[in-house]
Amino acid sequence: MTANLEPIQLELRKFVAPEFIFGNDARLLAGNYCKQLGGRRVLLVTDYGISQTSWLPEIELLLKSQGIEYVVFSSVSPNPRDFETMQGVEVYKESNCNLILALGGGSVLDCAKGIGIVSTNHQHIRAFEGVDKIFRPMPPLICIPTTAGTAADVSQFAIINNFDDHYKMAIISKAVVPDVSLIDPVVLTTMDSFLTACTGMDALSHAFEAFVSNANSPFTDLYALEAIRLLAENLNYTIEKPNDLQARGKVMLASLYAGLAFSNASLGCVHSLAHSLGGFLDLPHGECNAILLPHVVNFNYNAVPDRYNKIAQVFGIPIENLSSNESKNQLVKHILNFKAMLGILSTLKNKGVKQDDISILAEKAIKDPCNATNPRPPVKKDLETIYSEAM
Ligand SMILES: [Fe+2]
Repeated sequence: MTANLEPIQLELRKFVAPEFIFGNDARLLAGNYCKQLGGRRVLLVTDYGISQTSWLPEIELLLKSQGIEYVVFSSVSPNPRDFETMQGVEVYKESNCNLILALGGGSVLDCAKGIGIVSTNHQHIRAFEGVDKIFRPMPPLICIPTTAGTAADVSQFAIINNFDDHYKMAIISKAVVPDVSLIDPVVLTTMDSFLTACTGMDALSHAFEAFVSNANSPFTDLYALEAIRLLAENLNYTIEKPNDLQARGKVMLASLYAGLAFSNASLGCVHSLAHSLGGFLDLPHGECNAILLPHVVNFNYNAVPDRYNKIAQVFGIPIENLSSNESKNQLVKHILNFKAMLGILSTLKNKGVKQDDISILAEKAIKDPCNATNPRPPVKKDLETIYSEAM
């Protein structure tokens, strides 16, 4: 028997993940975990959308049954704003809370992380922008994600909208990894089809960017590729059959896998461009990623063609015997068709971006820490070109 001579990555790499429970009805463990982590009075962070579903009263009942007091903070917008985080801190302190429970999509989870770090580090949320700027651990944080895409429930990322300067700040630190995440496919059944599509494309972008990141590792590769396979096979089906828990479970698992991958390998230009764009026009994060992903693949492909060819193979795209250029074109075309099939048809132009905005958007995007791990290091002009192509 001969050894497989394909080289593996042997540079030093670390892998961080929180404790998580995955499976149907995981959310019902919220009361037990609050108690186990010493919750005396809980700040329950959520948003208006979730407060209109049965998930919030159900969690409240679980806390009551454990004799745990709680205060609900639901003033969280999509693309959570810095001042909302600071308002949440006030409520946390005034109510003398000692644990945070977040129930919602990425915006809610990111806002909850922001509340946590500000409450123990006593600085404005803007002070934590960038990599490793947090010095004191936050209070215990339990996350229950209600969408399958963001993976903020397992990641080292919190994204907060700098409302005055109209861009989204990336806060990247091991300190924002939650203590426990309760990852429950059942809660996905209240997502509408467009939210399912956008959050699914966010997960797909996480997996793509982690796999081609220059900080990839054998561990992140494993999760990234499996996330792509699961999304390719199940995302559209879950839109057609929203109550099929098997399909919802597979998409939730894909989101988790993509989250573990990107949390540890970081991201790239899809996210640096999306953070600037999402903050500028207050657009849904997943939709921004879906619009930008094919254009970033086009920009990056020649830097890591073997990696993109592996993605194409897992995505089920026949590229054998094709030239490098043909393979790239097939992959880009397939992503465009995939997002169109999910009902994401917008361009930047019909989302309201004007030609004059591109320079401002690129100016902000070039400062985003996600560029550092993009396989092709961009300059501002490159980012302008990608935005222009996505118009
Ligand atoms: Fe994302």
